[in-house]
Amino acid sequence: MPPGADPRTGGRVHPKAWSGRLQGPTDPLLERYSTSVQEDLALAEFDIRGSEAHAGRLVRAGLIRPGDHRQLLAGLEQIASEVRSGTFEPRPEDEDIHMAVERRLAELIGEPALRLHTGRSRNDQVALDLRLWTRAAAVRLSQGVLGLEGVLLRRARRERETLLPGYTHLQRAQPVTLAHHLLAYFEMLERDRERLQELHRRAGLSPLGAGALAGSTLPLDRRHAARELGLLAPTANSLDSVSDRDFALELLFASALIAVHLSRLAEDLILWSTAEFGFLELPDRWSTGSSLMPQKKNPDLLELVRGRAARPVAALLGLLMVLKGLPLSYNRDLQEDKSHLFPAVASVEASLEALAGMLAEVSFNRQRMAEAASDPVLLATDLAERLVHEGVPFRRAHELVGGLVSRAEGEGRGLELVLRESWREMGFADDPTGLLDPRTSLAAREQPGAPGPVAQSAALRQAAAQLRRGRAWVRRQTG
Ligand code: ARG
Repeated sequence: MPPGADPRTGGRVHPKAWSGRLQGPTDPLLERYSTSVQEDLALAEFDIRGSEAHAGRLVRAGLIRPGDHRQLLAGLEQIASEVRSGTFEPRPEDEDIHMAVERRLAELIGEPALRLHTGRSRNDQVALDLRLWTRAAAVRLSQGVLGLEGVLLRRARRERETLLPGYTHLQRAQPVTLAHHLLAYFEMLERDRERLQELHRRAGLSPLGAGALAGSTLPLDRRHAARELGLLAPTANSLDSVSDRDFALELLFASALIAVHLSRLAEDLILWSTAEFGFLELPDRWSTGSSLMPQKKNPDLLELVRGRAARPVAALLGLLMVLKGLPLSYNRDLQEDKSHLFPAVASVEASLEALAGMLAEVSFNRQRMAEAASDPVLLATDLAERLVHEGVPFRRAHELVGGLVSRAEGEGRGLELVLRESWREMGFADDPTGLLDPRTSLAAREQPGAPGPVAQSAALRQAAAQLRRGRAWVRRQTG
């Protein structure tokens, strides 16, 4: 048996790499209760990349021979291909992915595998794996966001002229265009994308070398390992390195906010699809029926997008709860991070894709929207602002126009008629009813960010440029 080999296993790595101190086997209930190896599988590729970088540090420090290094890399590559093809099978007694990979490596290459964990702990290892996973997830979510943004922009381009009532308090307020409404969601998603890019950058530090909590006595180069992994630098404090999960919380917050944005968009579309609004027709292939009522066509997909937004929000709170009472530094509670993080992020990715698919195919009822937007009372503010031009103080103008609206309503007459009469009474010579045309109103709204045609064209151009920049960012991260 080689020196240092485990006598209990005749030279192979003992299934429990930490069992030296403990007498006899672990209770199977503890094994079942504590294992995370199944959900850890999502970390496998990152765990292997981390081990490759770590093996590089070991050989450079002269702690392993170049031959061992070569064997480690070959073994890790073999495991990576098993992971990719789905043939890599963790065992229940592996405890977690780090142990599973190390165990498999020992099966494949024997003795050199026993040297891989030199100067490393699963504490800095899992922190690294999760940072790498977080960065990859931020890129995937960005791709999903860009997909939906692309659909919003494409649809907005065709709806520049489509009148739509804008709402506050869910009461018709002032006319806008459908393009303007769609671009509002584009804007929310742009903020989401920016958040993802920022947290991707902040997550890009390497905890490797923090060890269990206090670094290592061995001369291992932290900077080089960070660079090898495509990360910006090593983390600054070893205690913080193994107990920090802020990057995961940031990803959960970004995911939760994306989900809230999607939920709001879904809610608008649900409302618009009702007979009461009638602003859009749901595509049949994206709709569901009722098992009882033959006439029904339901927006289940949109309701699920709205309902599933609960998941990342709950996960964010869940992980905050895991962290709030933890003393420094690593505590096993931290293993729970993955069960909050992984499914929540997956649900947001799925919602992005589903909503983009459906939104691409809904048919807008431009006629209904224009009718709803053409109610002259929606231009009461324009009238008041016209009076301001004539020197009337705004509060007076507001009261005056409010009086006209209420008179028209009380007398059951159109606002146009009432307005024409009182306009003359107020001593104005021109015909004011042109002011009650929603297109006139829009044409006068050309400040940046407003729905006037020129401002809107600028917004569409700006959105296209943002989309191009976003796609280029994703290409840089994936290429
Ligand atoms: N499975 C563990 C986790 O996810 C890995 C780190 C275990 N470290 C330990 N000291 N038990 O957090």
